[in-house]
Amino acid sequence: MFLERNINNLALTGFMGVGKSTVGRHLADYLSFQFKDTDEIIEERNKTTISEIFDSHGESYFRELEKKLIAEMLDWKQCVISTGGGLVAFEDNMLQLKKNAFVVCLWAKPETIFNRIKRQSNRPLLQTDDPLETIRTMLEKRKSAYRTADLMINTDTRPMRQISQIIIRQFRQAQQQSGKQNHPTPLS
Ligand code: S3P
Repeated sequence: MFLERNINNLALTGFMGVGKSTVGRHLADYLSFQFKDTDEIIEERNKTTISEIFDSHGESYFRELEKKLIAEMLDWKQCVISTGGGLVAFEDNMLQLKKNAFVVCLWAKPETIFNRIKRQSNRPLLQTDDPLETIRTMLEKRKSAYRTADLMINTDTRPMRQISQIIIRQFRQAQQQSGKQNHPTPLS
Protein backbone atom coordinates (compact mmCIF):
# COMPACT_ATOMS: atom_id res chain seq x y z
CA MET A 1 0.00 0.00 0.00
CA PHE A 2 1.27 3.47 -0.88
CA LEU A 3 0.92 6.12 1.81
CA GLU A 4 1.49 9.75 0.90
CA ARG A 5 3.75 11.14 3.58
CA ASN A 6 5.04 14.52 4.64
CA ILE A 7 7.81 14.12 7.16
CA ASN A 8 7.07 17.33 9.05
CA ASN A 9 7.33 15.89 12.55
CA LEU A 10 9.14 13.28 14.56
CA ALA A 11 6.95 10.96 16.64
CA LEU A 12 8.10 8.71 19.45
CA THR A 13 6.05 5.65 20.22
CA GLY A 14 6.57 2.63 22.44
CA PHE A 15 5.53 1.13 25.74
CA MET A 16 5.29 3.01 29.03
CA GLY A 17 8.66 3.62 30.64
CA VAL A 18 10.82 3.31 27.53
CA GLY A 19 11.97 6.93 27.75
CA LYS A 20 9.82 8.67 25.11
CA SER A 21 9.51 11.92 27.06
CA THR A 22 13.17 12.14 28.04
CA VAL A 23 14.45 11.34 24.56
CA GLY A 24 11.72 13.48 23.00
CA ARG A 25 12.58 16.60 24.98
CA HIS A 26 16.24 16.15 24.09
CA LEU A 27 15.45 15.77 20.38
CA ALA A 28 13.11 18.76 20.37
CA ASP A 29 15.80 20.86 21.96
CA TYR A 30 18.38 19.71 19.47
CA LEU A 31 16.21 20.14 16.38
CA SER A 32 14.63 23.37 17.69
CA PHE A 33 11.25 21.70 17.32
CA GLN A 34 8.31 22.11 19.65
CA PHE A 35 7.87 19.25 22.13
CA LYS A 36 4.36 17.80 22.42
CA ASP A 37 3.28 15.00 24.71
CA THR A 38 -0.11 13.48 23.92
CA ASP A 39 -0.80 12.55 27.57
CA GLU A 40 0.05 16.06 28.75
CA ILE A 41 -2.20 17.64 26.12
CA ILE A 42 -5.10 15.36 27.09
CA GLU A 43 -4.57 16.12 30.78
CA GLU A 44 -4.41 19.88 30.17
CA ARG A 45 -7.51 19.94 28.01
CA ASN A 46 -9.53 17.82 30.39
CA LYS A 47 -8.09 19.53 33.47
CA THR A 48 -7.47 16.20 35.11
CA THR A 49 -5.02 13.30 35.17
CA ILE A 50 -4.92 10.27 32.88
CA SER A 51 -5.63 8.08 35.93
CA GLU A 52 -8.79 10.05 36.68
CA ILE A 53 -9.94 9.83 33.07
CA PHE A 54 -9.52 6.05 33.19
CA ASP A 55 -11.32 5.91 36.56
CA SER A 56 -14.27 8.09 35.63
CA HIS A 57 -14.78 7.29 31.96
CA GLY A 58 -12.85 4.09 31.20
CA GLU A 59 -10.12 3.23 28.72
CA SER A 60 -12.21 3.43 25.55
CA TYR A 61 -13.09 7.06 26.30
CA PHE A 62 -9.37 7.80 26.69
CA ARG A 63 -8.66 6.10 23.33
CA GLU A 64 -11.27 8.35 21.70
CA LEU A 65 -9.45 11.39 23.08
CA GLU A 66 -6.19 10.07 21.64
CA LYS A 67 -7.83 9.47 18.28
CA LYS A 68 -9.19 13.03 18.13
CA LEU A 69 -5.76 14.38 18.94
CA ILE A 70 -4.16 12.40 16.11
CA ALA A 71 -6.59 13.94 13.65
CA GLU A 72 -5.29 17.39 14.70
CA MET A 73 -1.69 16.37 14.09
CA LEU A 74 -2.10 16.69 10.33
CA ASP A 75 -1.71 20.46 10.84
CA TRP A 76 1.38 20.19 13.03
CA LYS A 77 4.84 21.09 11.77
CA GLN A 78 8.28 20.85 13.35
CA CYS A 79 7.14 19.02 16.43
CA VAL A 80 8.63 16.13 18.36
CA ILE A 81 5.59 14.20 19.53
CA SER A 82 5.83 11.82 22.45
CA THR A 83 2.82 9.51 22.29
CA GLY A 84 1.07 7.58 25.07
CA GLY A 85 2.20 3.95 25.13
CA GLY A 86 -1.05 2.54 23.77
CA LEU A 87 -1.74 5.12 21.09
CA VAL A 88 -0.33 3.24 18.11
CA ALA A 89 -1.77 -0.07 19.27
CA PHE A 90 -5.34 1.01 18.51
CA GLU A 91 -7.28 1.36 15.28
CA ASP A 92 -5.31 2.92 12.42
CA ASN A 93 -3.46 5.39 14.62
CA MET A 94 -0.01 4.34 13.42
CA LEU A 95 -1.03 4.97 9.83
CA GLN A 96 -2.45 8.38 10.70
CA LEU A 97 0.73 9.31 12.55
CA LYS A 98 2.88 8.25 9.62
CA LYS A 99 1.12 10.65 7.24
CA ASN A 100 2.81 13.59 8.86
CA ALA A 101 5.68 12.20 10.94
CA PHE A 102 8.68 9.94 10.95
CA VAL A 103 7.73 7.35 13.55
CA VAL A 104 10.24 5.87 15.96
CA CYS A 105 9.45 3.12 18.42
CA LEU A 106 11.57 2.90 21.55
CA TRP A 107 11.76 -0.63 22.85
CA ALA A 108 12.89 -2.20 26.13
CA LYS A 109 12.68 -5.58 27.88
CA PRO A 110 9.79 -6.06 30.34
CA GLU A 111 12.27 -6.18 33.25
CA THR A 112 13.83 -2.86 32.24
CA ILE A 113 10.41 -1.25 31.94
CA PHE A 114 9.35 -2.66 35.29
CA ASN A 115 12.45 -1.30 37.01
CA ARG A 116 11.89 2.12 35.51
CA ILE A 117 8.23 2.43 36.47
CA LYS A 118 7.86 0.39 39.65
CA ARG A 119 7.82 3.39 41.97
CA GLN A 120 5.36 5.36 39.87
CA SER A 121 1.61 5.22 40.36
CA ASN A 122 0.42 7.31 37.39
CA ARG A 123 -0.17 4.45 34.95
CA PRO A 124 -3.64 3.00 35.51
CA LEU A 125 -3.04 -0.05 33.31
CA LEU A 126 -0.11 -1.16 35.45
CA GLN A 127 -1.91 -0.96 38.82
CA THR A 128 -2.21 -4.75 38.98
CA ASP A 129 -1.09 -7.45 41.45
CA ASP A 130 1.74 -8.45 39.16
CA PRO A 131 2.82 -5.45 37.06
CA LEU A 132 5.79 -7.28 35.53
CA GLU A 133 3.51 -9.98 34.17
CA THR A 134 1.08 -7.30 32.95
CA ILE A 135 3.93 -5.58 31.11
CA ARG A 136 4.96 -8.88 29.49
CA THR A 137 1.41 -9.62 28.35
CA MET A 138 0.75 -6.12 27.03
CA LEU A 139 4.09 -5.90 25.22
CA GLU A 140 3.43 -9.20 23.53
CA LYS A 141 -0.01 -8.01 22.40
CA ARG A 142 1.30 -4.69 21.11
CA LYS A 143 4.54 -5.93 19.58
CA SER A 144 3.17 -6.25 16.07
CA ALA A 145 1.82 -2.68 16.14
CA TYR A 146 5.06 -1.24 17.50
CA ARG A 147 7.02 -3.05 14.82
CA THR A 148 5.31 -1.08 12.08
CA ALA A 149 7.21 2.08 13.13
CA ASP A 150 9.78 3.45 10.66
CA LEU A 151 12.56 2.79 13.13
CA MET A 152 12.76 0.61 16.21
CA ILE A 153 15.46 1.19 18.82
CA ASN A 154 16.28 -0.92 21.83
CA THR A 155 16.87 1.36 24.80
CA ASP A 156 17.89 -1.34 27.32
CA THR A 157 21.58 -0.52 27.26
CA ARG A 158 22.06 2.45 24.95
CA PRO A 159 22.71 5.87 26.48
CA MET A 160 20.28 8.63 25.55
CA ARG A 161 22.85 10.47 23.44
CA GLN A 162 23.38 7.44 21.24
CA ILE A 163 19.64 6.87 20.90
CA SER A 164 19.18 10.51 19.86
CA GLN A 165 22.00 10.32 17.32
CA ILE A 166 20.51 7.26 15.64
CA ILE A 167 17.08 8.90 15.49
CA ILE A 168 18.37 12.18 14.08
CA ARG A 169 20.36 10.44 11.37
CA GLN A 170 17.36 8.40 10.25
CA PHE A 171 14.99 11.34 10.54
CA ARG A 172 17.20 13.44 8.25
CA GLN A 173 17.33 10.67 5.68
CA ALA A 174 13.56 10.31 5.76
CA GLN A 175 13.16 14.06 5.33
CA GLN A 176 15.55 14.07 2.39
CA GLN A 177 13.57 11.31 0.76
CA SER A 178 10.36 13.24 1.21
CA GLY A 179 12.04 16.40 -0.15
CA LYS A 180 11.71 18.38 3.07
CA GLN A 181 15.19 18.40 4.43
CA ASN A 182 16.30 20.81 7.11
CA HIS A 183 19.87 21.08 8.37
CA PRO A 184 20.44 20.40 12.04
CA THR A 185 24.12 20.10 12.83
CA PRO A 186 25.54 16.83 14.18
CA LEU A 187 25.21 16.02 17.88
CA SER A 188 28.52 16.70 19.58
C1 S3P B 1 -0.80 3.98 28.28
C2 S3P B 1 0.38 4.69 28.41
C3 S3P B 1 0.45 5.97 29.12
C4 S3P B 1 -0.91 6.67 29.08
C5 S3P B 1 -1.98 5.76 29.58
C6 S3P B 1 -2.10 4.48 28.77
C7 S3P B 1 -0.78 2.67 27.56
O1 S3P B 1 1.41 6.82 28.51
O2 S3P B 1 -1.21 7.08 27.78
O3 S3P B 1 -1.71 5.48 30.93
O4 S3P B 1 -1.85 2.18 27.18
O5 S3P B 1 0.32 2.12 27.36
P1 S3P B 1 3.02 6.66 28.72
O6 S3P B 1 3.47 5.64 27.73
O7 S3P B 1 3.54 8.02 28.38
O8 S3P B 1 3.25 6.27 30.12
